[in-house]
Amino acid sequence: MLIDLCELSPSYVRSIAPYQPGKPISELAREMGLEEAAIVKLASNENPLGIGPRTRAAIDAALGDIARYPDGNGYLLKLALSRRYGVDMSSIVLGNGSNDVLELVAAAFLGPGRAAVMSQHCFAVYPLATQARGARAIVVPARNYAHDLESMAKAVDDETYVVWAANPNNPTGTLAAADEVEAFLRKVPERVLVVIDEAYNEYIKADLRTDTLKLLKRHPNLVVTRTFSKAYGLAGLRVGYALAHPSVADVMNRVRQPFNVNSIGLAAAAAALDDMEFVARSYAENLNGLRQLEEGARKLGLEFIPSYGNFLTIRVTTGGKSAAEVFKRLLRRGVIVRPVGGGYGLPEHLRVTTGTAAENEKFLGALAASMKE
Ligand SMILES: Cc1ncc(COP(=O)(O)O)c(C=O)c1O
Repeated sequence: MLIDLCELSPSYVRSIAPYQPGKPISELAREMGLEEAAIVKLASNENPLGIGPRTRAAIDAALGDIARYPDGNGYLLKLALSRRYGVDMSSIVLGNGSNDVLELVAAAFLGPGRAAVMSQHCFAVYPLATQARGARAIVVPARNYAHDLESMAKAVDDETYVVWAANPNNPTGTLAAADEVEAFLRKVPERVLVVIDEAYNEYIKADLRTDTLKLLKRHPNLVVTRTFSKAYGLAGLRVGYALAHPSVADVMNRVRQPFNVNSIGLAAAAAALDDMEFVARSYAENLNGLRQLEEGARKLGLEFIPSYGNFLTIRVTTGGKSAAEVFKRLLRRGVIVRPVGGGYGLPEHLRVTTGTAAENEKFLGALAASMKE
């Protein structure tokens, strides 16, 4: 072959560093010769409770119809969301996970000659989605690991069309208060879309949440994204959504694949949305898990970033160890967590998802042994 076929893609695509997902259990089992059942994966902010019985029943029922294409408009799920949140169905965009919805924002509003503002330590998909469209990333330094919303609003320039902000953020777990979010929205010009990514919204204590549904009415440039992957336990089915002004939703829908959400996902998400008891259990289990992890980290003399998500980001370099080394030692003990050096810019930390009490215990035991080794 005379040409490098890779060179055929635009340089902004070629320079993308691929997203690093959490290591699958099956991969570690193969590599280390471990039993899958003996491995604990706390690397992808998944729900340790699995799914509720009502959701399982909806999945079973949907199996009968999978020879057919799904409803490309996701009518029943949109209806359920519209009733729950009091938004018009024309304001809802469904996605193959909220990741897909973030990509739809980038596809619809970014491109060469345009820019997007984001924070240092932000969710990895923001720089990826921005770069994949040939747009420029404006990265604003974090303040005490958190999004500095004031500086982010100031960083908006003439080429900026999108601002990405996660609340709470992954991987730092930091939360912006409602008054900060409101002040931020007042500062960002109306011609710039503000994406508030609420993937972990259900884990926030009710009185600390920003009422983004109310803000949507006041700020037509606001896009709120949410997911069924976390508190609803449907990460494997890939269902997320955006709430936005109907004209924003309209352009996002134009770049959407016609059948981007599968039929099992649609049915499961509609059932899960109704299962308030399961979400309440997920919330409670997560609070216990966070306390357990915080307590364990304190006992080991390790600092952590206080978290409002379903994960805790712990500084493990105490005693001169590198986080990469601690990560490897944990793997050898059958525990998978997430390194957050590289693209996330937190080379001294590891992010650990809250698991069941037993999983958290196993992680803390393995961490204690890894720190001593
Ligand atoms: C902040 C944030 N946004 C979005 C997502 C995407 O989740 P999903 O595509 O499963 O909805 C994640 C996943 O970890 C996340 O942490």
